[in-house]
Amino acid sequence: MINIAILGFGTVGSGVYEIVRQNGENLKKKINNDIDIKYILDIRDFSSHPESKLFVKDFDIIANDPEVDIVVEVIGGLSPAYDFTKAALAAGKHVVTSNKELVATHGTELFELAEKNGVNYMFEASVGGGIPLIRPLMQCLAANNITEIYGILNGTTNYILTQMIKKNKSFEDALSDAQAMGYAERNPAADIEGHDACRKICILASLAFGRHIDCDNIYTEGITKISLDDVKYADALGCVIKLIGYACTYGKDKVFARVSPMLVPVSSPLAGVDDVFNAILVNGNFVGEVMFYGRGAGKLPTASAVMADVIDIAKDVSVQKRMTWKKAETDIALDINDSESVMFVRIKADDIESAKKKVITAIPGAEFVCANLLDGEIAFLTPKQTEKSLNNALATLDGVVSVIRVKQD
Ligand code: HSE
Repeated sequence: MINIAILGFGTVGSGVYEIVRQNGENLKKKINNDIDIKYILDIRDFSSHPESKLFVKDFDIIANDPEVDIVVEVIGGLSPAYDFTKAALAAGKHVVTSNKELVATHGTELFELAEKNGVNYMFEASVGGGIPLIRPLMQCLAANNITEIYGILNGTTNYILTQMIKKNKSFEDALSDAQAMGYAERNPAADIEGHDACRKICILASLAFGRHIDCDNIYTEGITKISLDDVKYADALGCVIKLIGYACTYGKDKVFARVSPMLVPVSSPLAGVDDVFNAILVNGNFVGEVMFYGRGAGKLPTASAVMADVIDIAKDVSVQKRMTWKKAETDIALDINDSESVMFVRIKADDIESAKKKVITAIPGAEFVCANLLDGEIAFLTPKQTEKSLNNALATLDGVVSVIRVKQD
């Protein structure tokens, strides 16, 4: 018998419970063993739940029970998840998580602790919701050197942008819908300010490139400044606006990573990824480009990914999987200022011709686009340059309304 304990009975935790209860017989066949939920830890009152006897409020009951094999940490956030995870690993229990903040922040330490105690710390559900991604990256693409990994990594913001683009909905209304559907983080600022996508690209880049990439060193911009006017310009340019997490190797031993909204041409496979769906493209030196696509958030897709790890461990609890990365000795992230971009820029201007002259003086090679789309402003695309030089040039211009990076092929 494999016993699991679920920490946190929120969106994902209740999804895990549902899968075990609905699909128990099938799971049993897959792992060739019985599997059951022994405890559910939650500080809230579940005395009227049909299985109220499973609920506990004291984590030590779980940590001290030798019959618990796998702890499923789906509380989210750093505290108390970090302490509970350390205690569970130290007690020799495998831990499975959907908690990207914890993996991105303390992953290296938790992998080491798991290894020391002969157990696994697994996190398939931390990136891409229900999309199988971590395991394919580490196993199916293992022959490759991964050079680039990028895509749409946050379901909430993709849902919001899709509603703005396709239904002309306001940002606020679309965010409320995403929260009601259980896509958003407890604090949706993590979604709309790009931090959730940043944690996910750091996890993917750390795995793909083998060394820890610190979120604090990664330029992160969310979608809060994107307006329906920006959406209109994007449409006129044959693009859509998407929040893109991007990471690539740079030179011999650096990594570049960034999260920001981008104008994505409609011909790109990412342009048609709508609503809560995520899509991640991976470039390997032998396989070329591979795309992963599916539901990036939500109760059952995320619980499905959690259960994939549970099943993997339950098949043989004595095996260590080693889907991990190592500490980086130095800061390996390239500074955003040294990266190169093409930017789309909108400027408010009373005198259009004089504003254009100023733009050409500041940014030689700027290409004016979408003339007369909106009264009293001009829009242009910059040539590809380092962000440092573009930002210096833009700082000399008055009336800048929007600056959005443009996805290049
Ligand atoms: N808030 C996250 C998202 C949940 O919207 O993608 C899944 O990680």
